[in-house]
Amino acid sequence: MIKVTINKKACREVDTIIFPFFEGNLSIPNEEVNNTLKRLEERDQFKGAFGTTFNSTRTKDGRVQDIVFLGLGKEDGLTVDKVRKAFGKVIKNLETLKSSEVFVGLPYLEKFEMAGFVKGATEGLILGAYKFDKYSTEEKKAKDLIVDLGGHRCNVELDQFEAVVEEAVMLSEGTIIARDLVNEPANIMIPSLLADEAVKLGKEFGFEVEVKDLKEIEELGMEAFLNVAKGSINEPKLIVMRHFGEPDNKDKRLALVGKGLTFDTGGYSLKPSTSMDTMKSDMGGAAAVIGAMCLIAQKNIKKNVVAVVAACENAISGASYKPGDIIGSMGGKNIEVLNTDAEGRLTLVDAVTYAIRKEGASEVVDIATLTGAALVALGTTATGVVTNNDEFYNDLEKASSLTGEKVWKLPAFEEYKKLIKSDIADLKNVGGRHAGTITAGLFIGEFVEDKPWLHLDIAGTAWLGSAVDYCPKGATGEGARILYELAKLR
Ligand code: BES
Ligand code: ZN
Ligand code: ZN
Repeated sequence: MIKVTINKKACREVDTIIFPFFEGNLSIPNEEVNNTLKRLEERDQFKGAFGTTFNSTRTKDGRVQDIVFLGLGKEDGLTVDKVRKAFGKVIKNLETLKSSEVFVGLPYLEKFEMAGFVKGATEGLILGAYKFDKYSTEEKKAKDLIVDLGGHRCNVELDQFEAVVEEAVMLSEGTIIARDLVNEPANIMIPSLLADEAVKLGKEFGFEVEVKDLKEIEELGMEAFLNVAKGSINEPKLIVMRHFGEPDNKDKRLALVGKGLTFDTGGYSLKPSTSMDTMKSDMGGAAAVIGAMCLIAQKNIKKNVVAVVAACENAISGASYKPGDIIGSMGGKNIEVLNTDAEGRLTLVDAVTYAIRKEGASEVVDIATLTGAALVALGTTATGVVTNNDEFYNDLEKASSLTGEKVWKLPAFEEYKKLIKSDIADLKNVGGRHAGTITAGLFIGEFVEDKPWLHLDIAGTAWLGSAVDYCPKGATGEGARILYELAKLR
């Protein structure tokens, strides 16, 4: 746990001090530290290049202090996300030091806004320090840490940034809620537990949660969802979360629909074991919408938002659906199942139909770890987007610039839609080897009933095989913050 505060207390009292520097401007009003910096620069050991750090030690008033110099590059090229990245890195550095309280001497800023700097530093520190270690019986290395942001180098009154820190802490915690849900193993995180967690979070943050069980899902006619779920002994749950921040506006209701496969074996179109071992992360979309609802409710955003998760497991048994099956859907279209591993879109289309027809959604965002093809096309850096509405996408880009979660719009030409037409039913659930992320998205688009719609494929961005910047190995919590910012803009 990290607690970040705006605190101008003298840095004499802490064990560790972080001094961030811009390249070409390595100085602070302290002769001893300046001499050290001069020496480091002459020897090419630290010049303030972006993301570089140097650890040194000094004795002050009889107390030994660790000093970490952190390079930010040139102020001209700085962004909030670069601040996040730099601080996400430096916090890992502190693991080897024995600090319980750290002081960050905020720099003098010529052009960059201090609010953005404080936001980036806070989020980078909290997100970078995250560890999922609840199942390790070894003595925990992660310790509670207080980080004080302050200092005499900066040119503004810092008290006004308390609210910035508070919101940045909240956003980071929303992301961490999503990370925790995804990192939980699939033997624990079965659909009923995901539903229980949503209920618990709803109580804590103040949003309404309704969980529908197998019988109710059957009564709703969610045949596509049920076909994916029926191979598992763990029963499916339909999780519905509601926040009405603008109750008088009956016309506007944003739906957030998250893919909630608590595990994806591929079904009879079985995944090879190396592709299966991370498939507990196939509820990353669900985690993102749950995390976003926590943020939306906590801030009491003046918008109407409903989130829907069709939670189930894609497993193998005598009851599982099979390649070649033709199944119905809540929307009424018949689907030829040619690959049981393309299961996410089947659960999502029923969740989308439910959101529109039963919850009165006027616009829809779905978010899903949907295709390996998204990882091939965009790597772990950007989320692939398919949409029917450019104005909606513009807002997503605005939200993205606030959170650093990168998005990239893929084309949705008519030609691609032909690839998912079936010869013997309305649609088939795979469009062949080409343009896999686009055809998967457009399959969901067939069920949005002309509502403005965004589809976010986070297969590449929800999970990391090794740590990058302020994201550790494992779940990234992708989506929680961008969906919150998007909801604020609608
Ligand atoms: N859950 C997977 C997609 C996935 C792959 C997520 C890698 C995260 C990392 C999805 O259900 C799936 O298996 N999709 C298939 C679709 C194909 C059969 C058309 C895929 O991508 O191979
Ligand atoms: Zn699959
Ligand atoms: Zn899947």
